[in-house]
Amino acid sequence: MKNRTLRNTAPLPKGAVLVAIEKGTGTRLIRENGVDRLRIGVNDTPHTLRTLRVAVRKIIEEARRHEAPIIVIDDVRALANGLEILDRELGELVAYNLSLASYTFSKYKSTVPKRSIEVCFRNPNKALSEGIDRGLLLASCVNATRDIANTPGGDMTPRVLADEAKRMLRGTKASVKVLGVKEIARLKMGALLGVAKGAQEEPRFIVIEYKGGNPKEAPIVFVGKGITFDTGGLSMKPADAMLDMHLDMSGGAAVIGALRAIALLKVKRNVIGLIPAAENSVSGESFRPGDILTTMSGKTVDVLNTDAEGRLVLADALTYAERYKPKLVVDIATLTGAALVALGQHASAIMTKDDTIASRVSEMGETTGDYVWRLPLWDEYVKYTKGIHGDIANIQSSGNTRYGGAINGGAFLSHFAGKYPWVHIDMAPRMTPAPGDHLAKGATGEPTALLVKIAESY
Ligand code: BES
Ligand code: ZN
Ligand code: ZN
Repeated sequence: MKNRTLRNTAPLPKGAVLVAIEKGTGTRLIRENGVDRLRIGVNDTPHTLRTLRVAVRKIIEEARRHEAPIIVIDDVRALANGLEILDRELGELVAYNLSLASYTFSKYKSTVPKRSIEVCFRNPNKALSEGIDRGLLLASCVNATRDIANTPGGDMTPRVLADEAKRMLRGTKASVKVLGVKEIARLKMGALLGVAKGAQEEPRFIVIEYKGGNPKEAPIVFVGKGITFDTGGLSMKPADAMLDMHLDMSGGAAVIGALRAIALLKVKRNVIGLIPAAENSVSGESFRPGDILTTMSGKTVDVLNTDAEGRLVLADALTYAERYKPKLVVDIATLTGAALVALGQHASAIMTKDDTIASRVSEMGETTGDYVWRLPLWDEYVKYTKGIHGDIANIQSSGNTRYGGAINGGAFLSHFAGKYPWVHIDMAPRMTPAPGDHLAKGATGEPTALLVKIAESY
């Protein structure tokens, strides 16, 4: 999405459609005094943050339907329809959601895609315009996250993912270090190596360090699952379930996007991004059900199902995170289909033993639009992760394996995240949009904005 601001006195650009909010229902395009107006009806109920987000995205949909090349938002304030919100926040929400709605993944289209919509904001005050700038910057990072996630598994290999991390952080204060298979072996990351074994493409361990705060201040560490394609391994997925599995590095992509935003916004905090990247593939070299892997922590894991690979690569990354003595670790992963069964598609699952972290992350999710909902992580659940011949099993080793799968994923990770405050985000429900989100097919780019918020305000 291109954008610019227009002064009140400036003439409307050629082809521009003026977006006007009025009481009533429906939208219509009318021509008045030689100006095209897209009238968008609002009712008497003031917007909430939730309804406003969707309403803003629908503007882009309407503009596309009417093939408007340029839209002019005449009065940003009017969009809020009575919602009490500061100008700065309104500007951010509007610009952010217009830009998210404008995104399509068109890199692989051979015909030139339709020109992207240009949005003009008419005469925004200082606070609105600062908000607009921030919203656009954040959205550009979320959309870049979507580009990385949407790239097919054949092209987005662990090596390419590491190159993308470097590209995204080039020119910023963040540094990117990429560990190859030898260094991964030297660190004794047996779980990451185990998952990667079946693939031709070698694993990578991506380390992004951003030091915007006091050097003595403990950092926040984000750990993103970077499975560039998940076949399920020898415990192979059925065809339909495999279809979207190039998106299984969405957690890793969100960490890269968030670090870019954090670096560009010059957030005064220390933030680390860790991405264990591997392809979970099948060959004679693949790790097998029944194999026992020794993780970097020294704990051994019974691989009862090679499709529960995300938790394995995260285990080693969570151990690596210890060296930073972090004040908070957040892992982000498309970890379980069970999270979708539990929550549907409208919220990511969060799990933590810390009530304060849970409530703060939930609140932040409401402000960024990356909705989350908490599932329990009680000791009762951790019991089911007991290993048979190894220390821990990578799927439920007792009880009904069809029950509580998302919690079981969190419970497994808790064995490796004992040394710092920690929250697990199972973003499988938000990997792709829900009906009514008014976002393009493919990756949502969530929870990139939530991670930025956590870095800024935790
Ligand atoms: N990447 C999948 C989880 C997933 C499924 C994400 C659907 C998004 C949409 C993960 O690696 C996986 O396969 N998990 C298994 C765990 C099971 C074997 C305990 C699952 O959900 O079936
Ligand atoms: Zn899997
Ligand atoms: Zn997976």
